[in-house]
Amino acid sequence: MILKSTIDRIMEATDIVEVIGEFVQLKKRGANYVGLSPFANERTPSFTVSPAKGIFKDFSSGKGGSAVTFLMELEKFTYPEALKWLAKKYSIEVEETVETAENKEEENRRESLMIVSSYAAKFFHESLLDTDEGKAIGLSYFKERGFSSDTIKKFELGYSPDQWEAFTGQALKEGYLEEFLTESGLSVKRDNGSLYDRYRGRVMFPIHSFTGRVIAFGGRTLKSDKNVPKYVNSPESEIYHKSSVLYGLHFAKKSIREEDNCYLVEGYADVISVHQAGIENVVASSGTSLTVDQIRLIGRLTKNITILYDGDAAGIKASLRGLDMILEEGLNVKVVLFPDGHDPDSYVRLVGTNGFKKHIEDNKKDFILYKTTLLLKEVGNDPIKKSEVIRDIVESIAKIPDSIKASVFIKECSSILQIDERALLSELNKMRQAKAKKNSQQPNGRMVTPVEEYPLDEPIQEERKETSSQEKEIVRLLLLYGNKMIDWDGIANTYIGPFMIAELNDVEFEHPASKAFIEIYSKEVENGVLPEEQHFIHYPDKDIVDLVVTLIATKYTLSENWYEMHKILTSDEQANMKATILGAIFHLKMHKVGKMLDNLRKELQNAVTDEDQDILLTQYMRMKKVEKTISDYLGSVIIK
Ligand code: UTP
Ligand code: MN
Repeated sequence: MILKSTIDRIMEATDIVEVIGEFVQLKKRGANYVGLSPFANERTPSFTVSPAKGIFKDFSSGKGGSAVTFLMELEKFTYPEALKWLAKKYSIEVEETVETAENKEEENRRESLMIVSSYAAKFFHESLLDTDEGKAIGLSYFKERGFSSDTIKKFELGYSPDQWEAFTGQALKEGYLEEFLTESGLSVKRDNGSLYDRYRGRVMFPIHSFTGRVIAFGGRTLKSDKNVPKYVNSPESEIYHKSSVLYGLHFAKKSIREEDNCYLVEGYADVISVHQAGIENVVASSGTSLTVDQIRLIGRLTKNITILYDGDAAGIKASLRGLDMILEEGLNVKVVLFPDGHDPDSYVRLVGTNGFKKHIEDNKKDFILYKTTLLLKEVGNDPIKKSEVIRDIVESIAKIPDSIKASVFIKECSSILQIDERALLSELNKMRQAKAKKNSQQPNGRMVTPVEEYPLDEPIQEERKETSSQEKEIVRLLLLYGNKMIDWDGIANTYIGPFMIAELNDVEFEHPASKAFIEIYSKEVENGVLPEEQHFIHYPDKDIVDLVVTLIATKYTLSENWYEMHKILTSDEQANMKATILGAIFHLKMHKVGKMLDNLRKELQNAVTDEDQDILLTQYMRMKKVEKTISDYLGSVIIK
């Protein structure tokens, strides 16, 4: 058992934002941080971390708790595993009571498997660096491949001696149990019950979990015998689920987040070489085709995947279908090909870091457009083939959950394929509807909205209604009710003034006097004062005095007011204070969002590069979502 004093030290050192930040991209929102839930597949962030309270709350899945609970939920750690992870992160020495440390049997199975794996990694690493056989065979091989000592150390590369029981014998001698040696696949049982080493004479690539613990191995043969499998990998075990592990992710995660992009390669050697070249945001699917779990692992860190392919056309064609899955998860996919006969490993060694980066920049293509051109090449004059290709492409596009992005692809593909855009669009909508129908029959099916219009086809509202009247309405409410207590269900013990100011902290006021008023009001609130009419009436700034006096004196009538729209009379405003206040706030927000959408549409019209379009469209979609949230809120919560 871990000593109470150790637990206390771990708790003291733990910064929940830092811990969760290793797994979830967090953005600061006021006093809290928000991000996309790692427990649910969501597109608008509902996952909140409060550093002050040391807790997280995930509104999608309902999960919540401390940094320890988070690790237990996400990494499926046990309580001691989570504590040890934190201890390692914060360099705290873990003190345990004596019995368990000595009794490996009493450790739980997963922990035992991890311990034996980490022991094995150490054994292989040492035999690579410290034994004659390891140095002569393994180390010289890695050196020949261009791996530096630092790289070998960082990736914990190793060598398994070419003997039947070198590892197993040593492990048993040190008290590791047969059960875990075989379950982890490090040792294999003979018919007579004795054990032998699985990876004899191979160089070893330990595979790490997301959090950096060794959970499996890939062992590469150094023989060129065709009958010997090139790689032998660990079997599935309680700690190693192939389909939800990416090789190199532990070393890449920080850089993936920073670069907001993940390079996907095929092999262990590719990851290591590219990483060594200083491009650290790289992971491998390790030879198997990508799984949904792997995509989601990446999706927690970035929405952009760039696939680096070996220059083998047949292989690429075969894998195109698999990439639809990435689109389906809402990620952006780019592909880069390398010259024939090269993989990322050989190519980066050939041209160096800068040459490699330049090759990627010059050759990266959007997956759908790439696929379209590739398939089109094979069509020739065959109309049947052509219609098959069209179906195939539209099928990919139909997988994109973001309908605006999809409509952009439709536009571009229609020009590549020389097909009327509307024909593609109707094909797309047919597929989406079929899919939506299928999904609606399954619980948890994702809703698919049909693509209606490209945003540019929506008219820009020439004259948006005047902003100033809505801003003045806020000022009026602050003056009239700012010093009143709120007693709505759910919110209490706070004054309306500070509440409104807090709610509006993301709104930029435009009307000069209103803007000035809000600034003064906020400052006073910060100082713990609730400014009243008198404060403003005697203010040195004439415009503010004008505004305030007009609002008080003429009982400002609200032409554009939201509750008028919803047939709630102004005289009712005190009777339904909650609707009055929230209505004014959200009505103004709605208006601002509308203006931003207008601007984005204008910018889209002028966007030249794909890159710009991409960014603008993403922003547009996000804003649309905000608009919908607000209007839903206005519709359902306030108007009763
Ligand atoms: P590669 O054959 O491209 O291997 O297979 P590599 O990593 O580039 O190795 P080098 O450069 O020849 O040394 C790509 C990946 O497929 C998996 C491994 O994960 C490998 O890294 N693989 C390949 C296997 O699991 N078993 C095999 O027999 C071959
Ligand atoms: Mn290779």
